[in-house]
Amino acid sequence: MMNWMRDTVLTLPSFLQIHGFSGNSGPSYRLIHGNNKEISNMLKEAMSKPIRNLSHDVLSAVQPHIHSWTKTYGKNFLQWYGLQPVLVITEPELCKEILNNKDRLYSKKKPNVYGKKLFGDSISIAEGEKWSKLRKLSNHAFHGDSLKSMIPDMIASSEAMLEGWKKHEGKEIEVYEQFRLFTSEVISRTAFGSCYLEGKNIFDMLMKLSSVIFRNSYKLRIPGISKVYKPTLHPDWQEKARNEVLQLFGKETRNPDGLAKLKTMSMIINESLRLYPPVIVLRRKVDMEVRLGNLIVPANVELLVPNLALHHEPQIWGQDVKLFKPERFSDGVANATNNNMAAFLPFGMGPRTCVGLNFATIEAKIALSMILQRYAFTLSPAYVHSPFQFLTVRPQHGLQVILNSL
Ligand code: HEM
Repeated sequence: MMNWMRDTVLTLPSFLQIHGFSGNSGPSYRLIHGNNKEISNMLKEAMSKPIRNLSHDVLSAVQPHIHSWTKTYGKNFLQWYGLQPVLVITEPELCKEILNNKDRLYSKKKPNVYGKKLFGDSISIAEGEKWSKLRKLSNHAFHGDSLKSMIPDMIASSEAMLEGWKKHEGKEIEVYEQFRLFTSEVISRTAFGSCYLEGKNIFDMLMKLSSVIFRNSYKLRIPGISKVYKPTLHPDWQEKARNEVLQLFGKETRNPDGLAKLKTMSMIINESLRLYPPVIVLRRKVDMEVRLGNLIVPANVELLVPNLALHHEPQIWGQDVKLFKPERFSDGVANATNNNMAAFLPFGMGPRTCVGLNFATIEAKIALSMILQRYAFTLSPAYVHSPFQFLTVRPQHGLQVILNSL
């Protein structure tokens, strides 16, 4: 162990420098802690103050170290989680190569002891034969008729949530927690075939366990929805989305075929996922030395694709990158990214892409259309803009909106 540590620490930065890095390869390694202390100090500082003017310029608040170090050391750099060397890659071509994993060189990182408790033997950490079996089963569960059959449950969950909103009409409501419970309830109803109250204990345990894990690392996530942020700030887009819903469905409950026609809503969801992706890093590791572009990456190095940084890169998205402009997605993702598909990774890409993508999108569309049919909403003056990462990206002080019935 000591030898491995000494050899890695002493040789890795110069090794990477020789094999493709020019200049400094990243922040200096510090004994035992690596860069953990610097990262956590930067995060504490960023979290202590809200982002001014409700700006969408959130990279420096959510991942201040990545924001700062890509500026100092370039698009790809080496950082240390304690003794673990981690290569951060933001060059889209290289991100694509890692995530597409054509030659099976990049595997999922093995979870630590807490991660094992949270994910058990789940698909998101499995590899090889076991993963392919689980993936086939999951693909089946989240496609076609099977997915369609979940829609009534999603509508029922959304109805139940909105029933509870009645007592907040004309007043403020904190919706982040509402959406978290809604997502949990939908998953309980559809996947576990029970209602949220039955699944509640499981989710409470998961949340507690995940907070323990998060304190021990920057590594894991639980999916959630956070799409309502944007239209509250942008009444024009809220109105466009509502018109679309009313034109397609009137005040009725949706039908599955209509959901695919919600084009404006898809653009809003995409733009929200670009600015505020719930999952902000994708992690892999190499088991043996590999060539990645003109870098040679030694065995046991972890790779980190910080998708939030890619989503906020002006060279890809243009100078208006920090603005909420759903119209950039009007001709699809390929057009919005200038055919740089790895620049938009809210659900990852390649073989390990999110298996719940369609499920999550349909769920968000159902909830949003049902909200838009009933309410106009604005941000409450109580809202403090301070997104931060706690497994997923979320509003640190909640998301307070004012509900006005239509
Ligand atoms: C807005 C909601 C969601 C977001 C942003 C999201 C994002 C992601 C991302 C980025 C990955 C890829 C991780 C990687 O490459 O390392 C992923 C994988 C995965 N997601 Fe999601 N997800 C969401 C909702 C869901 C839902 C609702 C489910 C299930 C009901 C789900 C199940 C999974 C699973 C099982 C994997 C692992 C797939 C594999 O390794 O083969 N996700 N998700």
